[in-house]
Amino acid sequence: MTQDRGYFSEETSAQAVIARNAACPNPRLAQVMEVITRKLHEAVKEIEPSEAEWMQALQFLTATGQICNDWRQEWILFSDIMGVSMLVDAINHRKPDGGSENTVLGPFHVADAPEMPMGANICLDGKGEDMVVSGYVRDTQGRPLAGVRMDVWQANDEGFYDVQQKGIQPDFNLRGVFVTGADGHYWFKAVKPKFYPIPDDGPVGKLLAALGRHPYRPAHLHFIVQADGFQTLTTHIFDPNCPYITSDAVFGVKESLLANFRKVEDAAKSTAMGFTADWFWAVDFDFVLAR
Ligand code: BEZ
Ligand code: FE
Repeated sequence: MTQDRGYFSEETSAQAVIARNAACPNPRLAQVMEVITRKLHEAVKEIEPSEAEWMQALQFLTATGQICNDWRQEWILFSDIMGVSMLVDAINHRKPDGGSENTVLGPFHVADAPEMPMGANICLDGKGEDMVVSGYVRDTQGRPLAGVRMDVWQANDEGFYDVQQKGIQPDFNLRGVFVTGADGHYWFKAVKPKFYPIPDDGPVGKLLAALGRHPYRPAHLHFIVQADGFQTLTTHIFDPNCPYITSDAVFGVKESLLANFRKVEDAAKSTAMGFTADWFWAVDFDFVLAR
């Protein structure tokens, strides 16, 4: 009865709000708000926050919004550390037919990285251990794909992307776009990636610390692999020997994305590549695009 009149009680709190939204003309919004209202009220009833605790939660949400700017998206970071970015990605990129697996995009992709010839070195700051990355892009039938656009980016040897250190790193350091030829082969020079922290000087970093969690992402390279008529693949390759491989702060690691980073101790080959040490790292990784 109370509920029919729109009055509020602790017992019927969720129903009172859901009933108030009943005239919503957008069925998807109505569904989303109903589920969120139900689950949120259920959580509040289970947690029974004090008023001070609820204020602390609101202050966290306020600070999360306030730190956002063109380069800092703290809400996405919050979604990442809660595992929600990976869950949304998994729901939207189910690949029953054997395509390579997706993982998080992250905040450091830029749309206008330069296109480079195969074999180019994306490392412009001269820091880190030289590495050759190569492989093939194929369809799910194993046929090599030509004209595939591969957008690659990685953090530098000190654990920062160029866009985090504008004026310190060269523009477009450790970024490039490569387009496959008829054989579907790609290759480029880079540096061995290292683990690095997600931006942890804001509310999300404080939350991680309060939870006893570290802010690190295991060593990886990012790829967006795109071809006409295929699903775009947004993914990484990871170094399985990285100490953070089983505790990625944003849950991005998938077993199928672990690559084999080999040390090539061949001075002549290293010189031929234009490297200065008498060894280098090599990693081969093939991508499969699903239609
Ligand atoms: C990244 O790998 O660039 C990244 C992903 C999620 C959050 C922060 C950074
Ligand atoms: Fe990254």
